[in-house]
Order: sequence, then structure tokens, then C-alpha cells
Amino acid sequence: MKQDKRSISGQAKSGEVNLDAALRPRTLAELEGQDRIKENLRILIEAAKARHEALDHVLFYGPPGLGKTTLAHIIAHEMDVNLRVTAGPAIERSGDLAAILTNLRQGDILFIDEVHRLGRAVEEILYPAMEDFALDIVVGKGPAARSIRLKLPRFTVVGATTRLALLTSPLRARFGATFRLEFYDQPAIENIVRRAARLLQVEISDAGAKAIAERSRGTPRVALRLFRRVRDYALVRSDSRVSAESVFAMMQLLEVDVLGLDTMDRRVLSALIEKFDGGPVGLDTLSASISEEADTIMDVVEPYLLQLGFIVRTPRGRMATQQAYTHLGIPYPATKTETNQPLLLDEEIT
Ligand SMILES: Nc1ncnc2c1ncn2[C@@H]1O[C@H](COP(=O)(O)OP(=O)(O)OP(=O)(O)O)[C@@H](O)[C@H]1O
Ligand SMILES: [Mg+2]
Repeated sequence: MKQDKRSISGQAKSGEVNLDAALRPRTLAELEGQDRIKENLRILIEAAKARHEALDHVLFYGPPGLGKTTLAHIIAHEMDVNLRVTAGPAIERSGDLAAILTNLRQGDILFIDEVHRLGRAVEEILYPAMEDFALDIVVGKGPAARSIRLKLPRFTVVGATTRLALLTSPLRARFGATFRLEFYDQPAIENIVRRAARLLQVEISDAGAKAIAERSRGTPRVALRLFRRVRDYALVRSDSRVSAESVFAMMQLLEVDVLGLDTMDRRVLSALIEKFDGGPVGLDTLSASISEEADTIMDVVEPYLLQLGFIVRTPRGRMATQQAYTHLGIPYPATKTETNQPLLLDEEIT
């Protein structure tokens, strides 16, 4: 498990499960934003239903907290089938996967979170299962060993990962549809916050919803977490109503700035600028210099800094852009030329 010291990290925390379940949209219609994905899924789902077939295998990827798990639940709900939830690291031996697969029923959905963390032996069981709905098992030992093939019901794998690049290509190829989740725009996040307020019966002003949305890094999980903190603040310090003022006050306490960057984001940026002269610097060097796990930087911190255009990834490492200097109030050195062009696609760099 990755460490999570942030108050507003995009990563899930255990105590949030109940709130998450209460606020999780259950249908495609309830899901805010991600219009392209919703449209594609509607077609896939309708077609599968019309043909009375299991849905094609679906892969979701993108930064934490954007709705991958939510979409898996929604698909199961819309298809009206059972959802079986597991995760790459949880399936240790191929026998574990075989047990899961043989318990599936026709049309069921097997949600595999962190699908990039499946072991090799497990993956080899999964390939024929996904492709031919068959399970090859070896019975007996030594010269007497032989392989028998069990038929499996037609089922659907929904995979989720924050790291598409770490997925082996044979596994990637077995998903019929692959979707990248994007950060949400302000109005979408405002709607998500307002919906949460409605469900939790909290009064919120338009300015309050807007102020939260602006600071949530385009991420529903962060928005809901901030909302919850501000709700507490409003209850204790004011009249229970979530207003822009209560948002500003709570953000000061959380040390979250106007763009939603917190101390960890700023530490990464200022290390990049002050210790490494704006880069380029390799991820491992950067992570060692601030004693933060490289995985956490890559999964949780970087995606939004890239989206803001505050950093770029180059083959030689990470670089801070002029906007990052400006945001931190550090003068941009005149000697720096604008060579900060990303030369590779994000997902090609691990
Ligand atoms: N489009 C949306 N509309 C409303 N709420 C959403 C939406 N997307 C996500 N959420 C809420 O945000 C929270 C995080 O979503 P979810 O758990 O699906 O993210 P995830 O992509 O699976 O993250 P991780 O990579 O950490 O597993 C949940 O509480 C979910 O209800
Ligand atoms: Mg998830």
C-alpha cells in the first residue's frame, strides 16, 4: 500500500468507505461528466443486452479518484448482473484466480482493480479465460501430468489501473474496450459537490460549491473529501451552511492553495525548482530528495501538475515550467529557454 499523508490526496482512505458508498452514483445517468465514456458504454451495454451476451471486457485507466471503481459498479448495475470485486495484488496464486473464475455465473462481472499488479502465472490463467472462456488446469504430477480444459461461463472482466504502461501487452490486447478517465471540469465537480450536499442534507451556497470545485484538482474524490471537511468546519464554526468563507477558512487550515495544491504538491515543485534548478531530473532522484515514494509522486502528485502545465516529462526527466515558478512566486531565470516540450506521451513513460 502506498503511504497517504495528505489530507486531500486523490487516494482512497479506509474511513471513507461508508460515505463513498452512500454518494456513489449507481447508474450512467447519475454519473456526472465523462460524457464520451458514458456514450460508449451505453452502446456497449445496449448491444450486449440486445444480443443476450456478456459485455466485452472493459479496461479503465487514469489517475486515482476519477471514477474507475464507480464505473465498474455502474456497469454491473446497468447490465443487471453480479459484480465480483478483486484486485491484482490480492490474487497471489493461479489457484486463487481459478477459484474465482469457476464461481462466476453467466454474464457476471469480475472487477480487477490494480490490474497491472497481477502476477505472471496468474495472468497466464487469465488469457484463455478472457479469450476462450476456458480454464486450463494441470492434473497429476511428473510424467503422468496432463492438462485439462474446463469451460467457463461467459463473463466480463472490468479492469482498472492508474498505470496503463505497466500492463503487459497481451493483457491489454484482451480488453475489447479501453477508456481513459479525464479530469473533470469545474461545472461537473460543482454538480458532484451539490449532489453530495443534497444527499447529506447540507445547505451549500453557489459560491461555496464553486470554491470547493476550484480546489479539487478536477477529481471527484478530492472534491467530496474537501466538502466533508468544510461541512465539519461549518458545523463547528458557523451556521452549518457551507459558504465560500467556510471553504477559504478550511483550506487555510488544510494548507490547500487556490489551485488545490497542497503541501506535498508544493514540496515536489519547489524541490524541482530549488534543488534541481527546474530540472530535468529523474523521478527517483526527485523522490529521494523529498523522501516521498516515487509511486506516490507519479500516481497522485504528477497527473494534476502535468494537467496544469506546471511540469513536463521529458526523456531526461521532469522539468518545471515557467507557470510553476510564477505560482510559487519564484522568479523565472532569464537564461532558461523554452525547451520544455514533452517528447513522449505520458503513458509511454513509467
Ligand atoms: N462522475 C462522478 N460523479 C459523481 N461522483 C463520482 C464520480 N466519479 C467518482 N465519483 C466519486 O468519487 C469517489 C472516487 O471514485 P472511485 O472510487 O470510482 O475512483 P477510482 O478511479 O476507482 O480511484 P482509485 O484509482 O483510487 O481506485 C467515489 O466516492 C465516487 O462516488
Ligand atoms: Mg478504484
